[in-house]
Amino acid sequence: MDLQSVPGLAENLEQLTAEQVAMAELLVSAGQREVFSAWEPAGTHDAEKQTFFEQIGTLDRNYPGGIGCYLQNARSLLQEAAKGENPLEGWSPSVPKDGFQPEVGSQAYMEYEKLGRQEVQNCCFVIPAGGLGERLGFSGVKFALPVELVTGSCVLEVYCAYLQAFQRLAEEDDPSAQRCQLPLVIMASGDTEAGIKALLKSNKYYGLEPGQVTVLLQEKVGALANSNALLSMEGPYKVATKPHGHGDVHFLLHKSGLARRWQTEGKKWILFFQDTNTLYLTTFLCSLGVSAKHCLLANVVTMPRKAKEAVGSIARLTHTDGHSIVANVEYNQLEPLLRATGHDGDVNGPDGFSPYPGNTNELIFALPEYLSELETNGGQMPEFINPKYTDQTRSMFKSPTRLECMMQDFLRLLKADAKVGFTRYPLTFGYFPCKNDIATAARLASQGTPPHGAASAEAAVYDANCTMLRILGASVADPEERHWKGGPQLMGPAVVLWPDFAPSMFGLRKRLTAVSKLSIAARSSLEIRGDVYLGELTLDGALRIVAGPGVTLHIPKLNVHNKGQDFVGLTDDEQAGAATEDLCIRGYKLVTQDLERIEVTEAGCYTYSEDRTLSKRE
Ligand code: UTP
Repeated sequence: MDLQSVPGLAENLEQLTAEQVAMAELLVSAGQREVFSAWEPAGTHDAEKQTFFEQIGTLDRNYPGGIGCYLQNARSLLQEAAKGENPLEGWSPSVPKDGFQPEVGSQAYMEYEKLGRQEVQNCCFVIPAGGLGERLGFSGVKFALPVELVTGSCVLEVYCAYLQAFQRLAEEDDPSAQRCQLPLVIMASGDTEAGIKALLKSNKYYGLEPGQVTVLLQEKVGALANSNALLSMEGPYKVATKPHGHGDVHFLLHKSGLARRWQTEGKKWILFFQDTNTLYLTTFLCSLGVSAKHCLLANVVTMPRKAKEAVGSIARLTHTDGHSIVANVEYNQLEPLLRATGHDGDVNGPDGFSPYPGNTNELIFALPEYLSELETNGGQMPEFINPKYTDQTRSMFKSPTRLECMMQDFLRLLKADAKVGFTRYPLTFGYFPCKNDIATAARLASQGTPPHGAASAEAAVYDANCTMLRILGASVADPEERHWKGGPQLMGPAVVLWPDFAPSMFGLRKRLTAVSKLSIAARSSLEIRGDVYLGELTLDGALRIVAGPGVTLHIPKLNVHNKGQDFVGLTDDEQAGAATEDLCIRGYKLVTQDLERIEVTEAGCYTYSEDRTLSKRE
């Protein structure tokens, strides 16, 4: 190839290594001559030219097939986009019949949980957490967000607490086995890696062993300046880059060799989930049981979804060639696809929801089949591109674009006969991420759309816990509408059931020894941690019960009436910055008037009586 004819590059060829010449050839042959156009001759900015080639090397290593492949894929997707082609051409959607809907708390649900409990020791946990969270207005990583204000625990802390609770279940079931350590993989990006590592380190991995946690680094991909997939430059010697999406997680599991190692170690399942919705783990043992019982290669956890709601949907897609798959269809594609294939569009059924369930992006894969597919596709996900064109000619962009990929599109790569199913829970146990800033949350709430802000995510945790208590027979006050700066929000009693108290519905039932005599009044708050067995309870106020490590605490009967805690809207000053960021994204704070604490830290078995005396049991 004649690199001498490439302006900018020609004047630098002599000082390039053989490897750099090869990279330059690759770029030029991929239509990137212009990338060198602003280069000064050799002797000027040479160090930056070295850095440029290092960057190209990084981009090359971090894309399946290398940077040449990336540019080729980009060009063909851009050509399709310029012609306005439908990316799902040839596919026709229908309502999937591959779902399981265990009613939370039912016998079937408990049986799935039992199976899940047997399987959990063979599960690996993977969280893509490379997203910047730009929409949220929180400067830390999303893992550091307090899930709720009653305990103030952050998302990562709750996830790690669930893992420890699951480990304990596995150890209880098989005391002769070695200590169970469930692998946790976090995919971070340049935007989140330092924050996540600092969070883990400064909190001693929230009780996990450092060796069981792996942080994989997701690199960004080259930004594209025009329809010919010309790399966009941030300066003469630096390619602009953008995030490639959470689909990179599969490539990284492949490239790092982790998925293969897990297989060798006899692991059987991988759970993928996202970085701000702790409810995933509330129902997880049941979902895993569904996978195990029905031998599902992939199990997508879903929730009811209003027709046209901006959340991905699960559909059966049948191709004109006759084969069909169950996959995620993004909300902006479902409606046009339905109409283009002769359907009425996405409309609510008699239950008030779309027949196409909503994807929570919690995916459970059977490891052996996942691995065999991963080794075939190398972690190369189907990609999409979403350029914003300057005009009708669809050639120039308003700002550089890039290819993106989604974790859930692994489903599209599975063979037609792969057993893909979904588990559907009611909305209460659905997807309540914390993504949007308070103004956006208020706007969405006013349109009757899920606000996906910090307040709705917090209320969802209390609501799920209250619902589980009610299902088991407790009497828990209904949620009340509160009005925050982020819009109206239904909030029930602020109940937090820590995973070491009850990591599952079955576990919760065991802990409550007189549930029909358990009542919680409106605006109360309750936190329970550790090995606690709770009998009759009348709570009108705030109560915290903590059984420390090695403590078993029996509380047969308790009446608690105090002024309790309340959520109070922030003043304008506080909202304008006098309050901490984690409160500003909610629009309220928690004010404590009274809080009864029952906290036992010295190992042993105790009874705590109605008259507030603690006695050690023999
Ligand atoms: P979100 O849709 O919440 O997007 O990501 P985001 O990028 O975190 O937030 P914004 O758009 O900047 O406000 C869904 C999940 O995918 C992860 C996120 O961390 C979250 O768990 N993600 C997203 C990645 O791991 N990598 C990415 O490139 C993008």
